[in-house]
Amino acid sequence: MIVRPAKRLRGRVRVPGDKSVSHRAALLAALARGRTRVENFASSDDCASTLRCLAALGVRVERGGTTITVEGVGRGAGAWDFVRPAGPLDCGNSGTTMRLLAGVLAAQGFDATLTGDESLSRRPMGRVVEPLAAMGARLAAEGGRAPLRIEGRQPLSAVEYETRVPSAQVKSCVLLAGLGAEGQTRVWEREPTRDHTERMLRWFGAPVETGRAERDGRPAFYAALKGPAALAARDVKVPGDISSAAFLVAAASMLEGSELVVERVGLNPTRAGVLEAFRTLGADVRWEAAGETGHEPAGDLRVRGGISEGGAGGARAASVLRGGAVARMIDELPILAVFGARAAGGLEIRDAGELRVKESDRIGAVVGNLRAMGAEVEEFDDGLRVRGPAELRGARLDSFGDHRIAMAFAVAALAARGESEIVGAEQCVGVSFPEFFGLLEELAER
Ligand code: S3P
Repeated sequence: MIVRPAKRLRGRVRVPGDKSVSHRAALLAALARGRTRVENFASSDDCASTLRCLAALGVRVERGGTTITVEGVGRGAGAWDFVRPAGPLDCGNSGTTMRLLAGVLAAQGFDATLTGDESLSRRPMGRVVEPLAAMGARLAAEGGRAPLRIEGRQPLSAVEYETRVPSAQVKSCVLLAGLGAEGQTRVWEREPTRDHTERMLRWFGAPVETGRAERDGRPAFYAALKGPAALAARDVKVPGDISSAAFLVAAASMLEGSELVVERVGLNPTRAGVLEAFRTLGADVRWEAAGETGHEPAGDLRVRGGISEGGAGGARAASVLRGGAVARMIDELPILAVFGARAAGGLEIRDAGELRVKESDRIGAVVGNLRAMGAEVEEFDDGLRVRGPAELRGARLDSFGDHRIAMAFAVAALAARGESEIVGAEQCVGVSFPEFFGLLEELAER
């Protein structure tokens, strides 16, 4: 993909439905009794992977534009009429599909195998094997990687489990398995992660309790569920994906004179931290929650171009993102790093070692590409420091087959001097945001 610089972005747009919320809507609709209509279902390839796996498990899904209708196979508390799949279930590039489905399948009475593409087959799965095994499930992942083989065995027993890394996928996996387990399943986290599963389980009528308490003398967060539990079908409206909107917010902010409105974006507090981070870095972005979609807050984002210097001009110290905040904007760190290169003082990101096991090694990918564009970057095991404000120059960049790297550097290329080429970008943005390049072209003034 060749990306030419732009003067500014102008317009009013919507981004596709939230990917995380869409996965959960499809899965919970399948687990429920009755028919669920999901509006604004994500157009992402990852969510199509979830639907494909559900279809292979005998779930009837109809798709018309961005609305899907799912016939749930729930048969009461802890009982489902899934069909034993004829072959391995292909999760494509989608970690969420694999980890959440593992929780669902662990509680079924048949064997199943989950596979993925090359990138997904490199990602750690021990983090879901461990808690599911503690619940009595039998599953194997050689070397802690996919394929994930699950031996059907019911019933599971409830667990009290503290996650080893902050991960909404692990938390969700355990809660979904908990639907089929006897007793109270409780997941503890040291840092709160996105809570879409908890919200949607409640929306479908499951008794979920969440809170904060002392655990071993330190504060922790929990989500608990009493199983076996039944879900009842309920229509869902998916808000726009804030992780997709983040690329447009960054692009508009980095280009002086931009005026952009992104409508009906999800503003769940466990996801919206990225907007505060952009603001701290000097972006002029405003948002207002204007009504729930039922289970998720949503509202419009308004961006005006230009990055304010704040502080004392060039002498300003780098902004630092670390600790729990990082878990709540984990998917936005690549675009925040790009933005940091244009911000006064630059940006340091730490405690983000998880970025190394995403769709690509996102620390290595961001560092390499930013350097190719002329930025001064230091790499750490758990993050990076980019000096700002830097003049970015057009370059030959690598997407590493990773959608968020491709989009982050397409944005960087818009704000650079000279043309850039991003290798492999067209093929991978569909994983989360197939409309991305088309929308940019519509909005960009040159
Ligand atoms: C997701 C959780 C995060 C995130 C991913 C989507 C989810 O992954 O990076 O894109 O939908 O639960 P982890 O749970 O591995 O942090």
